Parts: sequence; structure tokens; C-alpha cells
Amino acid sequence: MNLLIIGSGGREHAFADCLRRDAPDAAIYAAPGNPGMLGTAELVDIGAADIGGLLDFAAARRVDLTVVGPEAPLAAGIADRFAEAGLPVFGPDRAGARLEASKAFAKRLMRDCGVPTADHETFDDAAAALDYVAGHDEPLVVKASGLAAGKGAIVCETRGEARTAIEEMMVGRKFGDAGGRVVIEEFMRGVELSVFFVADGERAVPLLTSRDYKRVGEGDRGLNTGGMGAYAPAAPADPDFIDEVRREIAQPVLDAMAESGAPYRGFLYAGLMLTATGPRVVEFNCRMGDPETQVVLPLTSSNLLEPMLRVAHGDSLAGWRPEAAPGHALVTVMASAGYPESSESGRPIEIPAFDPAEVRVFHAGTAMKEGRLVTAGGRVLGITGFGGTLEEAARRSREAAARIRFDGAHSRSDIGWHELDPDRLGPDESARIHPSTLPGH
Ligand code: AMP
Ligand code: GLY
Repeated sequence: MNLLIIGSGGREHAFADCLRRDAPDAAIYAAPGNPGMLGTAELVDIGAADIGGLLDFAAARRVDLTVVGPEAPLAAGIADRFAEAGLPVFGPDRAGARLEASKAFAKRLMRDCGVPTADHETFDDAAAALDYVAGHDEPLVVKASGLAAGKGAIVCETRGEARTAIEEMMVGRKFGDAGGRVVIEEFMRGVELSVFFVADGERAVPLLTSRDYKRVGEGDRGLNTGGMGAYAPAAPADPDFIDEVRREIAQPVLDAMAESGAPYRGFLYAGLMLTATGPRVVEFNCRMGDPETQVVLPLTSSNLLEPMLRVAHGDSLAGWRPEAAPGHALVTVMASAGYPESSESGRPIEIPAFDPAEVRVFHAGTAMKEGRLVTAGGRVLGITGFGGTLEEAARRSREAAARIRFDGAHSRSDIGWHELDPDRLGPDESARIHPSTLPGH
């Protein structure tokens, strides 16, 4: 069997581990992959944006399944092109990827099918957007509708900040065409949770819940990043809650997509805010989360290749229920100096050996230069610790991160604080994470 993974981050490194476990004898290619995958996959020097090059490679090697990691090639229609060429691919088509690539589309769909989300309005005209801001309460969230590498959502404490964000996006074109259309929405208070589903066009099957930490600094301060760490399973993880999210959030979206003639197949990522009135959608993504994949997949003990093949062939997931391994996982991201505003490259990295039952180091922004492992991007490594308790997983992750060295490295040492340091939670937030403590449960 020949398998191809598209992408080069920690998420794709975790996919490589998972596919190797499920297909010990397969040829696994990663385009372009990263040096951490060497020994697990063969790296192919084709970028994730080069759809024609990827298509030629997959056809020439008779690839049995291509798994697409990042959103950009999905939004550009890679799954459509592979399907037209008769090549099995796991990931939504261009129509499905609009759930992430167009916030305006996702918001309209949620409104049409009654999925709870922040109140919002979409604007193509800066003057109308500024009028809206004048008539609404602070804080407000201003979002570029298109893809902006995770940087397009600006939480604005004041109307003045919202006006600046609108001007930067719509007039200054800070995010290019992605910000020509903006969504302005109500600020939701609560605790975030990432819930992932595998979707076959009709049904959504949940994986483990996870919580990621987007702010660069300790105590959730500083700029938003792609994610500085995550843990799984994350509360609330009880089956009744997950089933409510499946029924009330994932299923209506799948039904609406199928009705529109574009059944959604692939990973569906629901970024939720647990609010006083229940879970509400912050955003949908058309892929797995990064770094969440680095904790969710190692704890998924079921074979994942088989359901991915089923979905890629248009078959049903009926009867498939993934099993979770016992225990906990927590990933600490080590980033380069300057991240998220800039990043350094070419700094030598030293990684000691770790017991694989306790620690797995996932590569993201790394490269080989003159035979040495060096940094090559903002998020460099994800250090996943495993343990019988979340405390143990956290300790292993943090101790391992402290033993890995490269110039300018920074990481957070409070990943998982929602459950490791619950005194920091207010009573409302605590009840949202542990809904069984609410009256009526
Ligand atoms: P997004 O790109 O839409 O995922 O937004 C990035 C981050 O901004 C989210 O993970 C939240 O932390 C925050 N955020 C986005 N929208 C809202 C909202 N309506 N209310 C509160 N926080 C938000
Ligand atoms: N960790 C957030 C994301 O993957 O979008």
C-alpha cells in the first residue's frame, strides 16, 4: 500500500506515526514533510501548494490514500482534483473547505441551520462595518472572512480598536483579499474546547476532545498564535456532552452540506466556546487542529487508516467507533524567538533521547542543514508527554521541553491550567467544564 501525507507540521508528523502504526508495511510519503518523519516516511520535495505536482506524484506512485493536513490546499480544491483523477483522498472538497475558508459562508450556514454561534453580521463595505460598530456593545470581534493563517480574528475591547481593525483589514488590506470581507461578531465569554469529528458525508464520528492554548504567553496573555500547546482528553469529555455537540452542531452542518449537493467528507473541527447558554461555535475548520492532533491521535488506539480509506472511497462510517487509549497526553510547543510576529531560522537544535512510552517529540518548523537539525519556522517542536494522569503527562512534557535546546526557544509552562490549576477558573467557568456540577444534572 502507498500512502501520501500532505503538509509539514507537527500535525502531519502525528499523522505519519498513526499511519505507520496502522500500516506497518506501507510506503508512506510526506510532501514536503519534515525531518522528524525520517524513518517513518519518505520525504518528497513537493510543497503543499503545488497541487499539480502532488497529483503527478500520487498518480505515478499509484498512491492508495492521500491525507491532506493543512487547510490551504483543501480550500484550493486539492480533493476535487484528486477525485477527478480517480485518486482516493481524505479531506473535504473545495465546497466543504468553505466552512473554514469563508467565515461569511460558515456563519450563514450556521444561521440557516440553527447552529449556536456568536451574533454577527458580514460586510463588504468598510463604511457599513463602521456603522455597525457604532451601534453595538463592546467588546467586539472583527474577523477577516478568508484564510489568514490563524491571525485574522481580532478581539477588540473597545469600539476604537474595532474601527482600527476594520480599517487595517478592509482599507489597508493587512490580510490581502482575505480581509476584503469581514465578519463582525459579539464577544462570547466562556472556556474554549476543540471537538474533532471524522465525517463521511452523512454522519460525524467524534474523536477525543482537546483544549489548545492560542496566546503566546503564560496566563493566556499576548498575541494569538497557531497554538502553543494542548491536552487531551479535555473536560467536558463525557459521552452525553459529546453527543449533544454531535447532534446540535456537527449533524445540522453535515445535513445542510449534503442537501446543497456537497456532502462533507474529512475531518471536521468544531472550535467551541462553552458559554452560560451552552456550547456555541467560535469557528469551524476543515482539518485537524495543530497542535491538538499531537495529543488526540497518540491517544486514539483504534485503527484510523481503515475509516479514512472508507471515507475516501465514498463509503459509510456506520458502525465505526474509535477507541481511546487510557491516560492523558499534553503537548508543549517550543517556538522560535520572535514568534508569532516573526521567527528565526537556522539555529541548531539538540534533542536528547526520551522513553517513547513517556514522551514523543513532534517536529514542525525544523530542517536539516549540513547534517544538523536546525530551526526553520515559528513553531519548531511539539513535546507530547503521556501519563496515567494529566499531572504526569504535563510533568513529562515540561521536563522534556526543558532538556531540548535551541537559541531563542520559548514555550509556555502552564498548558493544561484549566484542569491542573482549577483555582484560576471562576465558578461559572468551572461549572462549564464540569457540567455535571450544574443543577439539573
Ligand atoms: P478564530 O480564528 O475564529 O478561531 O478566532 C481565534 C481566537 O479568537 C479564538 O480561538 C478565540 O480565542 C478568539 N475568538 C474568536 N471569536 C470569538 C468570539 N466571538 N468571542 C470570543 N472570543 C473569540
Ligand atoms: N490549534 C488551532 C488550529 O489548529 O486551528
